[in-house]
Amino acid sequence: MARRLWFIAVLPLLCGAQGPGDAGDGGVFQPQSALTDMEFASVSSYRGPGNTDPRPNKELPILLWWSTNLFPHFPGDTERVDCSRSSCLVTSNRKVQLYRRTASVIFYGTDFRAYEAPLPRMPHQTWALFHEESPMNNYLLSHGVGIRLFNYTATFRRESDYPLTLQWLPSLEYLLAPTAVPLLEKNRWRRAGLAPVLYMQSHCDVPSDRDRYVQELMKHIEIDSYGKCLNTRPLPEHLEDTSTATGEDGRFMSFVGRYKFHLALENGLCPDYMTEKLWRPMHQGCVPVYRGSSAVSDWLPNNRSAILVDDFPSPRALAEFIKALDQDDEEYSRYLEYKTPRRITNLRLLEALESREWGVNDMSKPNYLNGFECFVCDRENERLAAVKAHRKNPHLNPPPQPKMANSSHMGCPLPRPGHGPLEGIDPHDSWLQMWPQDYWQSLDQAEGLESLIRHNESEPSLLWQHIQSIAVRRARGPDPEPGGPTLSPGARP
Ligand SMILES: *[C@@H]1O[C@H](CO)[C@@H](O)[C@H](O)[C@H]1NC(C)=O
Ligand SMILES: *[C@@H]1O[C@H](CO)[C@@H](O)[C@H](O)[C@H]1NC(C)=O
Ligand SMILES: *[C@@H]1O[C@H](CO)[C@@H](O)[C@H](O)[C@H]1NC(C)=O
Ligand SMILES: *[C@@H]1O[C@H](CO)[C@@H](O)[C@H](O)[C@H]1NC(C)=O
Repeated sequence: MARRLWFIAVLPLLCGAQGPGDAGDGGVFQPQSALTDMEFASVSSYRGPGNTDPRPNKELPILLWWSTNLFPHFPGDTERVDCSRSSCLVTSNRKVQLYRRTASVIFYGTDFRAYEAPLPRMPHQTWALFHEESPMNNYLLSHGVGIRLFNYTATFRRESDYPLTLQWLPSLEYLLAPTAVPLLEKNRWRRAGLAPVLYMQSHCDVPSDRDRYVQELMKHIEIDSYGKCLNTRPLPEHLEDTSTATGEDGRFMSFVGRYKFHLALENGLCPDYMTEKLWRPMHQGCVPVYRGSSAVSDWLPNNRSAILVDDFPSPRALAEFIKALDQDDEEYSRYLEYKTPRRITNLRLLEALESREWGVNDMSKPNYLNGFECFVCDRENERLAAVKAHRKNPHLNPPPQPKMANSSHMGCPLPRPGHGPLEGIDPHDSWLQMWPQDYWQSLDQAEGLESLIRHNESEPSLLWQHIQSIAVRRARGPDPEPGGPTLSPGARP
């Protein structure tokens, strides 16, 4: 998915070049001679209407992109960005890590590793987290102690500073697209032997443990399963390369569109984590049978547009419901009524689509990567101005309030079995051996990193020592040492 980001992130920036090179550096902050040899090959062409920032490059605060695989500019490793209210220099050059002028470090969540964190953490620098991908990619961020290390976030949670909740829904029109295969034709396919339910998945061992649920569901209702997980049918040859098949590909759409119901099960469960698994069947005019975000109803077009797995006490009860709907054309059609605009009654959905400043595959709007970068730039300039004003006149100007993220910005729960109790699972089960452990190990790493920072360590590889001494102290019981690591959940298995 990072590859997708690259594509949309890079294109808008290919145009325009302006501004002088950064010849020296004797600005309002501490001199930075190393910046001299940085290139300013291209400069973003867009300047927000509220931006009257007169400063030359050498006086701008620096934002450092820490993740080596993600720098949303091209070419070069440093660029000036002119945002809606202010300007910054952005760079992926780690030489600036400890500079006074470096105001914020931006991280890509999937690549964030405690043992590679920029240390010592400079008190004048904020940390900004961009994480739009699945919770499964990095559970460190789901622990309170991990997410609180960051000051600004862009995540799929609506509580995030720069929310990306509807990132997989390109537009309202996407939902309104006409049904790919009309109901009469779907029913003909049913009579010809097609199952009512489609499952198409090739990523099998995931935290949501979806296959365990599907396997159970299959005992009660017929499911055509393509792909590597629980396969029951081969894909037709022309669709075998599922990596190139997209929801908008005509042949793919007419193939999957024949199914009345699509299993739409996210790979990780977290509030507000919704992907194309949900929106694509709706685009095609099929009914998603969804499990993912527990708050998904908040975003659906109306209260009858998807079947939610968690509304049913068992796979059997869900199967019975689907079978009844399969037999009732009138009731089935109600699930597609949102294809008529006035049947979209969810104002939260409409307003979010209307008001978001970033676009999905829409070159007329900024992409959310550059959008977040500018969000951080404007915030940092505000903060720096407030710090400066406070220094000048402490009585008149209060210092800026510290700002940090909390669990509501991520906070994905411990992975649970997709079906049945944890106790019932074979100890050799691959899901059991992987995901609950991954979740708890990432808590160790978050605590270790917090400890490294608190002790002002400069060497991230000391992480393992810190993790070990936290474990030893935890085993000994309550910590008498003031300022020692805060111990977390007693309820670890
Ligand atoms: C769905 O919404 C409609 C009107 O918006 C309401 O009349 C109906 O009771 C709701 N149904 C459920 C099951 O919530
Ligand atoms: C940023 O977050 C850190 C860690 O949570 C916190 O100590 C610091 O005060 C925050 N900085 C600002 C400027 O809010
Ligand atoms: C967590 O952050 C949100 C939004 O940033 C804020 O509204 C909320 O008060 C915070 N919660 C706690 C417990 O600090
Ligand atoms: C933290 O470490 C850095 C360099 O290792 C040092 O310059 C700085 O003074 C230290 N800060 C504190 C509060 O000890």
